[in-house]
Amino acid sequence: MNRRPMVAGNWKMHGSRAANAALLDGVLAGLRARSGARASAEVVVCPPFVYLAEAAQRLAGSAVLLGAQDVCAESGQGAFTGEVAGSMLRDVGCSHVIVGHSERRALYGESDEWVARKTLAALAAGLTPIVCVGELLEERDAGRTHEVVGRQLAAVMAALRGSELGLTSLARCVLAYEPVWAIGTGRTATPEQAQDVHAYIRGRIVEGDATIGGSIRLLYGGSVKAGNARELFGMPDVDGGLIGGASLKAEEFVAIVAAAG
Ligand code: 13P
Repeated sequence: MNRRPMVAGNWKMHGSRAANAALLDGVLAGLRARSGARASAEVVVCPPFVYLAEAAQRLAGSAVLLGAQDVCAESGQGAFTGEVAGSMLRDVGCSHVIVGHSERRALYGESDEWVARKTLAALAAGLTPIVCVGELLEERDAGRTHEVVGRQLAAVMAALRGSELGLTSLARCVLAYEPVWAIGTGRTATPEQAQDVHAYIRGRIVEGDATIGGSIRLLYGGSVKAGNARELFGMPDVDGGLIGGASLKAEEFVAIVAAAG
């Protein structure tokens, strides 16, 4: 199965209008400089909400896609103070949205069910959700990695099955495996550790739908750098990366894209 690699930059709560302009210009220039004959990775950047519209203008005419870092679980409009609807993200130029990032799960109490609802809301709005799963260090140490990741994935698959979207809509999702102990720590998973969990995730999806299991893209996230990206992306079930810190440096991010392409 030929899956086009994807590299997505999760800027988290970083940036300013000036810094974002410089970063995006750097990324665009870097990608232009290396665009050769080879088909390369799909590239997504995910700035904070308030900068999305301006980022969309800067990216206009380029192949770089825009994503948000979160979305409201409710569709349409309504009395949900502080929330941003998927339709609004589409309106300002987003095609993607991260849902269920471990920081949202850990710091803002998002449950598996909540993440599943957000996934449905994103799909209903026509966005591609980048659904994050991953275990804590103590869960890995207790040998519970597959169980935890399997539970997080199962909640999303069950919600899709039970909705009018159906499990077939999983084909419109991207999954990101981000072991919590590898995020922002400099301690990346080994390529073998990443491959083991990616193969497990793909296997679980294949059980539900073999075609989707073969075609869905599984990104790895957690301390990906230019220096370790190539060996991670070289694993058979790793289809690219979700990049935090290294996505804030144009040269580093472009080098990671090159490693995926
Ligand atoms: P780092 O690349 O900074 O470890 O962050 C990974 C991440 O959480 C991306 O969503």
